[in-house]
Amino acid sequence: MANVNRDGFGSRFGVLVAVAGSAVGLGNLWRFPYLVGNNGGAAFIIIYLLFVILLCLPIMFSEFIIGRRTQANVFGAINKLAPKSPFIIIGIISVAASISIMSFYSVVGGWTLEYIFKSFSPQFLTADSANLATQFSGFSSASFMPVVMHLLFLGLSALIVVAGIKNGIEKYSKILMPALFVLVLLLAVRSVTLDGAGAGIKFLFYPDFSKITGETLLAALGQAFFSLSLGMGCIITYGSYVNKKENLFNISLMTAAADTGFAILAGLAVMPAVFAFGIPPGQGPSLVFITLPQIFAQLPFGNLFSVAFFFILFIAAITSAISLLEVIVAYFTEELKLSRKAAVIIAFTIIGTFGTLSSLSNGVLKDVTIFGKTFFDLFDYASSNILLPVGGLLVVLFVGWRMKRADVLDELSSGGAVAVKSFVFRWVMLIIKFVAPIAITIVLLNSIGLIKLF
Ligand code: PHE
Repeated sequence: MANVNRDGFGSRFGVLVAVAGSAVGLGNLWRFPYLVGNNGGAAFIIIYLLFVILLCLPIMFSEFIIGRRTQANVFGAINKLAPKSPFIIIGIISVAASISIMSFYSVVGGWTLEYIFKSFSPQFLTADSANLATQFSGFSSASFMPVVMHLLFLGLSALIVVAGIKNGIEKYSKILMPALFVLVLLLAVRSVTLDGAGAGIKFLFYPDFSKITGETLLAALGQAFFSLSLGMGCIITYGSYVNKKENLFNISLMTAAADTGFAILAGLAVMPAVFAFGIPPGQGPSLVFITLPQIFAQLPFGNLFSVAFFFILFIAAITSAISLLEVIVAYFTEELKLSRKAAVIIAFTIIGTFGTLSSLSNGVLKDVTIFGKTFFDLFDYASSNILLPVGGLLVVLFVGWRMKRADVLDELSSGGAVAVKSFVFRWVMLIIKFVAPIAITIVLLNSIGLIKLF
């Protein structure tokens, strides 16, 4: 089945940084802190962790298994394993979710670029928190610059994807991911040592379970999927570039650990500062763009820290954006037989357009709503809270009930090279067949009100 001409990752480290690069992104550094803020802190984190360990890990194995088994894009993969089956909807959800996520992701990616440039200006950090909030809303609601920055961010991601897997995605991830880790760690250390940081740490680690509602559960589940890049074919696609000898268990475990580590570190970088500076934790998507500059303003060489942080946010975002684009590009090149360049140009045009709508929905289009949500919020909500959980559900059903058990074991054991104990395999299959599908269904039904748990 191996295709000698197909591009792929060149080394184990390359696979790890690329998959971790996809997982660690705005989801960890921007989305996680504000969701924790909106959903009451520690209780949300605990539910999130449970979902990661119990549901997301088995889903990640499942996606890797499908991808590596078939060495094809999502449509090709499902078609190879189950020709003409309704499971092909996994392919449709994948491409739809990639477009939907990129349509707000690259707008936020654009904000990070703007904030890198802003950080060079001495006036930026002399501001107080009210001023930083005004600066942010002034910028993000404008019609011109945020759109330009969104297109710039999307264009840069497109350039990396055109270069391919080994010479594009892998090469850049190897440099960018370690740099990211060092900088976030430094910021977290600075944040927890601020005066008044204690309240933020308490908010992160002392749970108040009375705050949990059906929406919190869904938000935690959506965030776990989003943060681990699950439920939309991204890991299937990256899995298809993984060498047959790699141990899929290890890659999944390391990715989940790195991703969760980054999320907690990001929480530690943001929440103590939020409380130390008296900023309301539940203010949503603008949180890191307002709170962190507050820390920087207190530091010697604050501008330098600010440039570094937004550069990091940009790196984290772009290593995820390329994985989102790759889902669409792999589909266009392998199924529709387009050249890589043509595929990237089409993806750029579609996302460029939707992204522009979502950027403008923070300003001139803010009154245009669908289901009560602006374009920006709709793309975010529809992908994380609907498409990804449904996609993840179909993936586990597919691997649990449609694929041959022997093939699943063959992939998990890398063709017999990795010893998988039989009780471990049975446990994994039990979760994939029953626990994960039931749990995801319950959370989804609960959130649309068909059953009432909370
Ligand atoms: N995991 C990425 C993040 O946390 C976002 C992402 C979602 C990337 C889905 C790929 C697929 O920012």
